[in-house]
Amino acid sequence: MPARKVYLETFGCQMNELDSELVATQLRALGYEFVPAPESADVVLYNTCSVRDLAEQKVRSRLGEVKLRKKREPGLVVGVLGCMAERDGVDLIKRMPVVDVLCGPAELDKLPGLLDNAVRTNDARHTADSGADLRSANQVALQGAASRRSSTLAAAGDSLEMLDLSRAVSPEDHNGSAYVRITRGCNKFCTYCVVPHTRGAETHRPPDHIVEECRRLADAGVMEITLLGQTVNHYRYEHGAAVSVDGVLQPQKGRSFKGGHRRDPLAGDRTTTFADLLRRIHDEAPSIRRLRFVTSYPRDFGDDVLEVMRDSPRICRYLHVPAQTGSDRMLKAMNRGYSVGEYLEFIDRARSFLDEPEKERPLMIAGDIICGFSGETEEDHLQTAELLRRVRYKNCFIFKYSPRPGTTAFDRLPDDVAEADKRRRVNELLAIQHEISDDIARRQVGSELEVFVQGVSAREQKRQTGRSTGSRAAGNGHGVQLTVGGAGLDGADPPGAPVIAAESAPASGPVQMTGRTDGDLIVVFDCPQGRSPDSMIGTFVRTRITRANTLTLWGEIV
Ligand code: SAH
Ligand code: SF4
Ligand code: F3S
Repeated sequence: MPARKVYLETFGCQMNELDSELVATQLRALGYEFVPAPESADVVLYNTCSVRDLAEQKVRSRLGEVKLRKKREPGLVVGVLGCMAERDGVDLIKRMPVVDVLCGPAELDKLPGLLDNAVRTNDARHTADSGADLRSANQVALQGAASRRSSTLAAAGDSLEMLDLSRAVSPEDHNGSAYVRITRGCNKFCTYCVVPHTRGAETHRPPDHIVEECRRLADAGVMEITLLGQTVNHYRYEHGAAVSVDGVLQPQKGRSFKGGHRRDPLAGDRTTTFADLLRRIHDEAPSIRRLRFVTSYPRDFGDDVLEVMRDSPRICRYLHVPAQTGSDRMLKAMNRGYSVGEYLEFIDRARSFLDEPEKERPLMIAGDIICGFSGETEEDHLQTAELLRRVRYKNCFIFKYSPRPGTTAFDRLPDDVAEADKRRRVNELLAIQHEISDDIARRQVGSELEVFVQGVSAREQKRQTGRSTGSRAAGNGHGVQLTVGGAGLDGADPPGAPVIAAESAPASGPVQMTGRTDGDLIVVFDCPQGRSPDSMIGTFVRTRITRANTLTLWGEIV
């Protein structure tokens, strides 16, 4: 069989990017070849997000495009992976029969088998003269309700654990930066959120596996690691509670924390807390120069974690800790489990431990806000505006509430804020956040900041290709780097993202590059003469900041 050409496009959060990377590794080992555009592929895969309707719309429009091609080329295999596959299930195939393969995020280890079957079925259909209905032979792997049952949880977790463990770590597989999963799923059930339904119950990976993965990445030249989990600071692993099957430790189910405690009360020899895990990675993989984690849950953040962050020079002074709203009433309706007062207490505590602007190590905090949730009044909205002013996020992703089928809010709470009000409120909050981000950026002018180089800037990409980049195709196995980070991306720059491309690019001159500081600020600078841009990627440079706007800093290499 000739090598199958695969196009894989990724939507959604960093968890999905990592999943795409793991899928690509797995398929490449089986002889599949990755191509950068769907036109030349015979297998087209979309790794999807379901967090807002907009994210799903994008995939629906991609499927619409591919439908025409499939009419001409019935051998083409189309697969929908990830959260939308899990949420929509077989209904998606009924509505969009162009889809051959459906694979939920907790079933990705089964993808090679599904694809192999789909390729054979489609080939058979291609050559069939019997007119037999092969359409019914779709390949489907979804967890459904089983994803929260502990027996299946252990088994599924085990095979998923193998997927993470088999990741490629050779230097050509990364640009000096990597994601490492520490927790799967989510148990929080915020009423608006689809993630606990698509990703299943929370489980924690064994700390030895995580540390070993970080060390292997470090040995292969990775210098920046971002730990991933939906409630990443909720990590806790109880040793001895795990069952070993064929020598492989089963992942542990998350336990509910009571909240309000300053330290994990179970810390000790038999438990690896989040603070312990951070310290272990920091100390046991010392060539990792930047360690950060997303996304933090505002409650359950003990002083133990902040102390480890303060005392570990290679852990970034960066927290992404969404509040979602500044109204206690809305927090309750969202089932977030904390009050505005508790949230602010945490922000102040984090700053008192970690904010050291005089040492050029300010603490940068990023957030997420949902605007126009069920029952949100003007008063609630003003309280959110007040929260933005009080917290002073470096950047904040501000989303309009999007009702998601399957969630409690969808079933029980009316989507009763008018679209025009949602839009106005988003714009008002964006304007406030814009001013704050602008002020934070301008305060960096004159300082010397270390930048981890990620690639050429958006302006440069536009100059070279004539267009700006959109969503990400994991085609070349280099884990295509994002210019803008943050949870819940819909494949485009989120609100509040820097508009680097808006600067008119000179027709010639040095190549403009981009990178990030320890606090996740974006810095653009000119590639030095005599250095190729490629050789700069994945290295650190010291820059003096000469000017700034909103989230973009301009630096000169010193
Ligand atoms: N686990 C992370 C967030 C994961 S989803 C956390 O709890 O912080 C990423 C972001 O998408 C959320 O923080 C929230 O702001 C947003 N989001 C989730 N569901 C949404 C919905 N139904 N409508 C609009 N925004 C939503
Ligand atoms: Fe979990 Fe975050 Fe979704 Fe809440 S918003 S249910 S914590 S993923
Ligand atoms: Fe799933 Fe991440 Fe989207 S968990 S719903 S891909 S934000």
